[in-house]
Amino acid sequence: MDNIAVAGAIRPGILSWIEEAVFPRYDSFDKGHRRDHAQYVISTALSLAQHYDVDPELIAVAAACHDLGLSVDRKTHHLESGRIIRAMAELRGWFTPEQVETIACAAEDHRASSKDEPRSIYGKIIAEADRQIIPGTVIRRTIQFGLKNYPDLDREGHWERTVAHLQEKYAEGGYLRLWIPESPNAARLEDLRAIIRDREGLRRIFDNIYKEELYKDALPKVRALMEGETDICAKMANFAAAIHRTFGFWWTGFYRVEGGELVLGPFQGPVACTRIPYGKGVCGTAWERGETVIVPDVEQFPGHIACSSRSRSEIVVPVFCSGRVAAVLDIDSECVGTFDETDREWLEKIVEYL
Ligand code: SME
Repeated sequence: MDNIAVAGAIRPGILSWIEEAVFPRYDSFDKGHRRDHAQYVISTALSLAQHYDVDPELIAVAAACHDLGLSVDRKTHHLESGRIIRAMAELRGWFTPEQVETIACAAEDHRASSKDEPRSIYGKIIAEADRQIIPGTVIRRTIQFGLKNYPDLDREGHWERTVAHLQEKYAEGGYLRLWIPESPNAARLEDLRAIIRDREGLRRIFDNIYKEELYKDALPKVRALMEGETDICAKMANFAAAIHRTFGFWWTGFYRVEGGELVLGPFQGPVACTRIPYGKGVCGTAWERGETVIVPDVEQFPGHIACSSRSRSEIVVPVFCSGRVAAVLDIDSECVGTFDETDREWLEKIVEYL
């Protein structure tokens, strides 16, 4: 708590009590709610408090204790925090019963939604300090929520749901309410609004995050599919099916190195050419180079082997066995520019499970 706002404003006894008696209680909470979170909320709340006629000691204690109820129950933790605060004997030595009540109410109100406004400025300051409106995070959480709760939606459905939610909550006139206009959230909300207004830019951000979330979800599923199976053909078959269905690609499959050429292996999609020489086409090039090849537009790739006229972009990832290329994973898309570094990164990780 080496915040300038702390200097001189808070009795040393209270500060050391927060350090020694309150912070350790955060150590058993989930990653997002460890003592660094409490520290962040204290320092943010104290900076916000400088704009108001409030007692920094009450702010510091409310911020320090706002999440203690997590030790009881996640859903009602704000109420539990209030209960824990009211029961703290130390506080009665430093504060009047009214002040303790103010601290407890601020903790109870820290999860304020737009419907339930915090009862006092203390609650507003803690609630605002506790939330971080970071545009990228807001968009990612919106997409994650959609994927979890609306598993039947396709990509376009998720896009529409994401836009509708962002519009409804964060755009001008949306239902989100900032409790403290001086909060750093105000500036970040303006950034988010600019992103929401730029539909094409938002779509690019959506596509990228959506893709990452699908890969994140696919990784453990593919690993589970591979576990306990030793036959490479069976593994490639399920691998191709899982990736193909998850992303809705045009063609997903393997070519195995057999003798001096690539020979068609398990795949999903329309029939394909069965043999590709070393160094030929995108597949043969990836084999020759021993590295992933991304082709944003197949018409611009000299020597591209067109198995299907509908394939417009492609990525080929080598599969290594004992340091040598044993096969390649080939994925085709019906759209130009489908694959980028995100695909490379995730697919290279996933093929290792073979
Ligand atoms: N386009 C690939 C050939 C394989 S098919 O796309 C399935 C290439 O140029 O190597």
